[in-house]
Amino acid sequence: MTLRPETSGDAAGVEALLDHAFGPGRFVKVSERVREFARYRPDLSFCAVDAGQIVGVVRLWDIRIGATPALFLGPLAVHSGRRLDGLGGRLVQHAGEAADALGEGPILLVGDAPYFERFGYSAAATRGARLPGPVDPRRVLARGATDALEGPVRA
Ligand SMILES: CC(C)(COP(=O)(O)OP(=O)(O)OC[C@H]1O[C@@H](n2cnc3c(N)ncnc32)[C@H](O)[C@@H]1OP(=O)(O)O)[C@@H](O)C(=O)NCCC(=O)NCCS
Repeated sequence: MTLRPETSGDAAGVEALLDHAFGPGRFVKVSERVREFARYRPDLSFCAVDAGQIVGVVRLWDIRIGATPALFLGPLAVHSGRRLDGLGGRLVQHAGEAADALGEGPILLVGDAPYFERFGYSAAATRGARLPGPVDPRRVLARGATDALEGPVRA
């Protein structure tokens, strides 16, 4: 199993994994609205590859929250046959550490707090962050925010 930055040659394998992990509902998520304007960061997006197969992916994107430069995490997906073995966690933490090494700002995501809290994400600073669509505020999570994140999530 190798974790390595995503490349353009991974596109088909990643699409297949995302379809498998999320189904058609993936395109109606508010996160997808963010990704329509956010700038993809290939240097901070990683694939888990095993025997030539992409079995996990995490992507990061440049955004702003109000005036604050930040990153947006997602999608995160692990193939159903490879779950519950720490791979999702490795991907989340690897992306976060790579962002930290570049001195990036806070990382925002929309996801389940019971999963992401173990990696330092919480809703404590995100009350004022406005996503481009309806979302349960308990699912708007961030890590690395020194102040409250305020304002619209935008490019
Ligand atoms: C979420 C996902 C990436 C986790 O991948 P993984 O490799 O199984 O994750 P890990 O092995 O690091 O962690 C597994 C642990 O997280 C827990 N967990 C997984 N999803 C969870 C969730 N939504 N809420 C709470 N806990 C969750 C598991 O029960 C397990 O707990 P344990 O350590 O007590 O046994 C994977 O289930 C997946 O691809 N799901 C479909 C896509 C998705 O929902 N992505 C996240 C969108 S925000």
